Amino acid sequence: MLPYDPMRAYRHKRDTAHQAFNTKYAMLGFISSGTYGRVYKAKTRDAEERIYAIKKFKPDKEGEVVTYTGISQSAIREIALNREISHENIVALREVVLEDKSIYMVFEYAEHDFLQIIHHFSTTVRAMVPPSLLKSCIHQLLNGLVYLHTCHIQHRDLKPANILINSDGVVKIGDLGLARLTYSPLQPLYSGDKVVVTIWYRAPELLLGARHYTKAIDCWAVGCVMAELISLRPIFKGEEAKLDHKKNVPFQKDQVVKIFEVLGTPSVHEWPGLPQFPEYLNMKALDNYPPKLTEWCTTRFRSKDATDLLRQLFMYNPENRATAPEAFNHKWFSEDIKPTRNAFHGLPPNHCPPLRKITQDEASLAHHVPASNNNNPAYNNPNSKPASWKPASGQNFGSAFGVNTAVTMQVPAGNNSGGSRKKPRLE
Ligand SMILES: Nc1ncnc2c1ncn2[C@@H]1O[C@H](COP(=O)(O)OP(=O)(O)O)[C@@H](O)[C@H]1O
Ligand SMILES: [Mg+2]
Repeated sequence: MLPYDPMRAYRHKRDTAHQAFNTKYAMLGFISSGTYGRVYKAKTRDAEERIYAIKKFKPDKEGEVVTYTGISQSAIREIALNREISHENIVALREVVLEDKSIYMVFEYAEHDFLQIIHHFSTTVRAMVPPSLLKSCIHQLLNGLVYLHTCHIQHRDLKPANILINSDGVVKIGDLGLARLTYSPLQPLYSGDKVVVTIWYRAPELLLGARHYTKAIDCWAVGCVMAELISLRPIFKGEEAKLDHKKNVPFQKDQVVKIFEVLGTPSVHEWPGLPQFPEYLNMKALDNYPPKLTEWCTTRFRSKDATDLLRQLFMYNPENRATAPEAFNHKWFSEDIKPTRNAFHGLPPNHCPPLRKITQDEASLAHHVPASNNNNPAYNNPNSKPASWKPASGQNFGSAFGVNTAVTMQVPAGNNSGGSRKKPRLE
């Protein structure tokens, strides 16, 4: 044996420096359960007691036995993309911990989200979202989206529950679990996941069966979110047609009709590519609807510029749809009420949404207990992940992050020096 074994010394240093997850963070309560895991509110067990949101991905489960077949595609995407990006309007990832077959993503905590704001104004305040709050929310959302698109990242699941806002009124785009890189992707963008984006926020080109879609689908979703903040209900609230027994994606007739009822039936004149879509004939079989967006807007608000922004985000032809930078620079944002950095600025106290609810779910708060399958109905269909989208197992964790398997990773990338690595446990 070598008198000095550098590997052994390294392992010793690494293992002594590793801090077990539950000695570093105390779980304060349970926030939400999604398709891939659970989100908790937690605080650091140091003097600072900083608050974080921790997303715990479920390990795979076969019967009652927890197996480990790899890391879900959703987790890989979310971690890989989040490590590379940093922007005020995107939820920051502080670190990722892999321990006992679970992945923990530690995010900055955001007290509110757009869904909660919509709920607060529709049920408690019982009034429209004030223009200053609306404008600031959309402006900051677009600012974050401009950044993502500049980084060649499509979010693909923008909806009120995934757009957070902290107690300083700063909007934070969250949930990059479905996001993808658009710049030289390793796989074509249509392969793997057949359906993206929750149905109510899904762009018409996807509903018509497009295989090559673009960042424009995120801009459509921003239009839907803006309309929902205005009317306090989803603008296109269709019923999702379920997959058939061969898992084929059916024509989403009801959703398409909901869009046509407001925007009118699209014409080949405005959208020359229309006849090429796989669902074109199904679409042609529908009744003809006149456009009614102006009416929809004038019965709800007066701003011509806001109407114009919505119209541009709801362009049928994705090539004519406002891009994120175009929408961000829209003249509505330079109208008299200017967007503020704090979206809650100047609001009367009763207009500020309540603090995020957390519950004490003892089983799930206990460390190392696998998450159960019961989904929070508030995020359930059709607000949940599309049913046909499954996480792939057996992904190569190491190659996705350029690191060697099990790890406590400090983010941003390149900041994971020091002895915080943990022994690989991928058996
Ligand atoms: N950073 C955060 N701070 C506070 N709450 C959060 C945070 N991230 C997520 N949440 C809450 O948890 C919910 C689910 O998180 P999300 O990242 O969207 O995961 P899922 O893939 O399950 O949809 C969100 O809708 C939000 O209510
Ligand atoms: Mg989500």
